[in-house]
Amino acid sequence: MTSLLVLAQLDWNRVAVKSVAINVSVAIILICILSVLHISSTHFGYPPKKVYKSIVRICFNTTEKWNPLSNKWKLRVFRRKTVTDASDSSPVEIKEKIKEAALRRQMMITSFTSHTNAWRLIHSGADGFDGITVDVLDDVLLVEQHREHADISHLLQELPLQFPDKSIFVKKRWSRLSEHRCGEQVAGPRHPHILNILENDLRFGIRLTDEEHIGLFLDSRMPREWVRANSTDKRVLNLFSYTGGFGVAAAAGGAVNTVNIDNKNSALRYAEQNYQKNGLPFDSRTFFKCDVLYYLKRAAGQKGRFDLIVVDPPPRFKRRHQRDFVAHRDYHKLIALCIGVLAPGGTILAGLNALKASDEQMDTMIEAAAMESHSTITTTGDITAPPDFPSTPDRPVSRFRILRVSHTPENPR
Ligand SMILES: C[S@@+](CC[C@H](N)C(=O)[O-])C[C@H]1O[C@@H](n2cnc3c(N)ncnc32)[C@H](O)[C@@H]1O
Repeated sequence: MTSLLVLAQLDWNRVAVKSVAINVSVAIILICILSVLHISSTHFGYPPKKVYKSIVRICFNTTEKWNPLSNKWKLRVFRRKTVTDASDSSPVEIKEKIKEAALRRQMMITSFTSHTNAWRLIHSGADGFDGITVDVLDDVLLVEQHREHADISHLLQELPLQFPDKSIFVKKRWSRLSEHRCGEQVAGPRHPHILNILENDLRFGIRLTDEEHIGLFLDSRMPREWVRANSTDKRVLNLFSYTGGFGVAAAAGGAVNTVNIDNKNSALRYAEQNYQKNGLPFDSRTFFKCDVLYYLKRAAGQKGRFDLIVVDPPPRFKRRHQRDFVAHRDYHKLIALCIGVLAPGGTILAGLNALKASDEQMDTMIEAAAMESHSTITTTGDITAPPDFPSTPDRPVSRFRILRVSHTPENPR
């Protein structure tokens, strides 16, 4: 009996030693993998934190949401949404998909008559072409490949057959190489790369071979229309103005004055050209190169300067000597700052184009801005993307809230 007990004890000890050994080896292997990742990502100039985040995201299919009211990050686990890919489609299927996409937009195109000649023909997964978009820009078709593995070869064979009069350009937006990101012509009649398009009879310059975006965000067509209809006799501030699309719409709608703020000289130069193309008035204060947050903080003393503010930030931007602005985390601070320069009873047209922020989160951040600025904000309307930008989980599109601010704070922060 005693010998049996001793044997059992020995056996148990062996099992325990074995499992400790396994655990230690697994830990050593993990440490080695993490060290290799850490050293190689640092070596290639990529922040290791981002690598770890991506691993967690890939393994657990997670996303993080910032809740400005509780001031906390919330980790969400979600199912990956499926989108339709074109890589397995036959040429016949590609042809059908293009026809269907055009048919879906037929009513909208008919309503444009000759006043608008720029719209989206294919919007990624929503039209069965995951990671690919195609825009019609007057006599040009612009194919943008947003993911490296999105196969555009069949599409590039089919488009010239269906649209023989159009010049076809391709931009590889996924690439870090400037020669890929700049558009290049691949088919159709030779084109000078620069053109004017019409949107509701307003003229905008388009540059197809710039590394950056082409010069106008087509998905903001409806908010531009709203601004034009609601700017009469208003003082309008256009923040993150880019090429001045909203400023042009406001000036065309009869604004008393318009101020466009952007931190890029090139964008402001193009904005000025867009005003000129439409014969709209401007002076030395119409275009101002400045960081928006800096401008709003400096201007906060001048309460009531603007009746309408359009604020449409990029999802993220860098700030000198300060933490990056991340829209899905910091949006409420931006809106609160806007209230500091808004006239009593004024309106903010607030845009948020970030896949990471849900509609619900956008509203939460607007509530947080009201609290932060001691104001009452009433959302009186939404402006979503137009019908040529059907919703799809793989592409962000413009989304705007019309905010009436009924009380401007005595001491805006
Ligand atoms: C998404 S675009 C804005 C689109 C614009 N609202 C429109 O509809 O045409 C972003 C613009 O913000 C500008 N930008 C980015 N960070 C900025 C900052 N901190 N201050 C001012 N402008 C900034 C960029 O130069 C770019 O022109």
